[in-house]
Parts: sequence; structure tokens; C-alpha cells
Amino acid sequence: MDDLALYDPATYAHGFPYEHYRERRAARPVSRQELPWGGFFWVVARHRDVQRVSRDAETFSNAPHPFVDTEEMSDAGTSELLIAKDAPEHIKLRKLINRGFTPKRVADLTDRLVARVHAIIDGLADRTGCDLVHDLALWLPLHVIADLVGVPEADRRQVFDWTELTFGFDPSVTAQQRAEAAAQMYAYADRMCAERQDNPRDDLMSVLLHAEVDGERLSPFQIDVFFMLLQNAGSETTRNLITTGLLALLQHPDQMARLQADLSLLPSAIEELLRYATPVMQFMRTARRATEIAGTPIAAGDRVLMVYSSANRDETVFANADGIDITRSPNDHVAFGAGGPHFCLGASLARLEAKVMFEAILTRFSGLAVDGDPATFPRVHSNLIDGFAHLPITWERIR
Ligand code: HEM
Repeated sequence: MDDLALYDPATYAHGFPYEHYRERRAARPVSRQELPWGGFFWVVARHRDVQRVSRDAETFSNAPHPFVDTEEMSDAGTSELLIAKDAPEHIKLRKLINRGFTPKRVADLTDRLVARVHAIIDGLADRTGCDLVHDLALWLPLHVIADLVGVPEADRRQVFDWTELTFGFDPSVTAQQRAEAAAQMYAYADRMCAERQDNPRDDLMSVLLHAEVDGERLSPFQIDVFFMLLQNAGSETTRNLITTGLLALLQHPDQMARLQADLSLLPSAIEELLRYATPVMQFMRTARRATEIAGTPIAAGDRVLMVYSSANRDETVFANADGIDITRSPNDHVAFGAGGPHFCLGASLARLEAKVMFEAILTRFSGLAVDGDPATFPRVHSNLIDGFAHLPITWERIR
């Protein structure tokens, strides 16, 4: 089989190359991907090997950064992000951030979240169609992060615009525009910190500013960078779970009907949609020392790609891996990472958002349908995040 360029966003323009993944899992589970501008990385395609790499942080490092290299960003300038750090700094940073990310803080968002979802749907009440991405799915995650962090309503449009520019995967946005938006986001976070320095509020920004671990606090720059990571990690991912997940349900009407008839199945359905859709497709690690993965020797310094979107369809772990079973149990998917110290910090928040959103969609819309052939809908241009740029839907009635 021809080799596919797994580093190239164009490879994912019509969704994941599942046939190619299958061939890799069966015939060459750990294999080299040569880069046209020089160098290579290892591609790890099987569930068990992805778990091994993810959980062995002593051997596989997140520094210098865990993103797939592209020609113009081999040093992505992302080394300050939490996700690009290793122990002991990562452990300390994560402990500090966890001070503001407690299950209680997430649970306290529920009422606001429910109200927000219904307000978004109410705004569509006099229509019979919309773009699922831009009119429905995009708003909830953006507002939830803004609520959590403490961004006032009046500033949200601006912060959302910067979020789209910095990580929005729009190929027409230049590197310069991204850098400018990031600088403006940092300056904005600085102003938020200044306002909370002497007058803490009940928001994540205030907690981050005053949290201490071993007598140390986050620096203003660390808070700025985390602010940006949170906006990005929390918005695009959850949006795509909602859009790709809803599409998957619409394409599997038996599962959709079953779920509609018994909403208590929602938690396990969401896990299955996470597995099936895999909104974050892959992350990279770097070997700190010589090792091996499934018998393949890996040298110190080699880059290793964990392909979550392949691991989540591994037929040796998931029966009927390419189908949907909303009651699948166990469901050991790797959509939030395959275990280890960087496991998604926002997993419980993402699950809550998805539950509230799907519940509202399934109970309020009737006659929901996709408007067109999903194979022709544009997807986001990315080698990290999968999802649709636009997804037209129609309905008969909103209750
Ligand atoms: C469906 C939605 C989401 C998916 C699929 C997702 C997926 C992931 C994945 C795969 C990782 C890397 C895990 C690893 O390397 O082991 C990650 C890390 C992370 N996620 Fe999420 N995520 C989602 C939603 C969120 C939300 C809502 C937030 C914030 C509120 C968030 C914040 C983060 C952060 C901060 C990290 C870095 C953690 C660290 O490096 O220690 N994510 N996520």
C-alpha cells in the first residue's frame, strides 16, 4: 500500500484513512514515516502500543512539543504549554492548575451550561435549518470556558475571535496573524490577572493567580499561556465531538432511536461517540533513551506518533470497531489520551457539555436530518483535530 503522509492536514480532508490504519495495525504496527523536508517519525497504530507509549512518561517525553511537525513549524514555539512539559515541572504546573479545576467547580457550571444550551436552541426556534458547527456546536464550549475562566460577556466576541485565529485551523490565516492574536490574548490575560490581583473573584483566573504548590505560584506568563491553551483545548475539541457525534447518530438511526427512547444511555453513548469520532487524532512523544515498541528498536531522540484515531478502531480491542454500539462496555477508548500524566484535564467538563447538548438536541428537535452528502462537507484543515468546518442540518420542528 502507498504510504500516506500522516503529517499532512490534506490527508484528513475527507476524514480518517481507516483502511490505511487497518493495514498498518495488521502489517507494520510500528513503522517509519519519512518527512519530505528531512527526518522521520515512528507511527504507532495499535491500541496496546499507544497505551504503552502514553503511560511510559519516563521513556517518552512531551518536550520539546507533542505536535506533529510540519515543514513550517518544526519548532512550534509551543514549549511553554502545559502539554509540552515533562516532570517535575509538569507535575507542579498540573497540581497548581488542578486547584482551580476541581470536580466541584465543573459541577457548579451545570446550571449555567443547561441555560446556555437552551438559549442557543431557542435562538434557532423560527428556523428549519442551520450550520450545526457555527450556529449550534461552537457556542457552548466557547462560553463554558469563558464562564469558567471569568471572561465578561462584553469581551467574549473578541476572545472567541482570537481563539479562532490562534488555533482555528483555517489555512488562510497567516503565521503573523496567529502570532498577533496570541500576543493580544496574552495581554488580555495580563489585564484579567491585574484586576484580580488584589480583588480575587470566584473564577479560575483568580484561583490560578493565588494557588500555591510548595510555596510557588504560577508566573504571569504561565497563566497567559494556560489561558490560551484552555481556550483552544476546550473549544475546538468539544465542538467536534458534538458535530461529528451527532452526524454519527444520524447515520446510525437504530442507535439514535434507541438513545432517544432511553436517555439514561447517554453517558455510555458519549463514550462510544468519543471512540468513534476521536476529535483529537494524534499526539507525538520523543524518546529520551533507546528503547523498543512491540519489538521495533527506537533510538534516543526519535519522535513517536500515537495515532488515537487508529487505536480507537483496533479490532483486537473493540468488537465491530467500525460500527457504533451506544451500550459498549467496557469501552477503553483513547480519545482523551491513553493514560499517563497528560490525560485530558478537561475530560469531565467535555463529558458534561456533551451530555447537556445531546440531551437538549435529542429532546427538542424533531425530524433532524443532514442536509447533503457528508462526504462533501469541508473539514477543518489540521493534523491534530478532526471535525467539520461546516455541517448543514435541517429539522421539522423545535419544541
Ligand atoms: C471532546 C473533547 C476533548 C477531547 C477529545 C480532548 C482530548 C485531549 C487529549 C487527547 C489530550 C492529550 C492527552 C495525553 O497526552 O495523554 C488532552 C489534553 C488536555 N486537554 Fe483535552 N480534550 C477535550 C476537551 C477538553 C476541555 C473541555 C478542556 C478544558 C476545559 C481540555 C483541556 C486539556 C488540557 C489542559 C490538556 C493538557 C493536559 C496536560 O498536558 O497535562 N480538553 N485533551
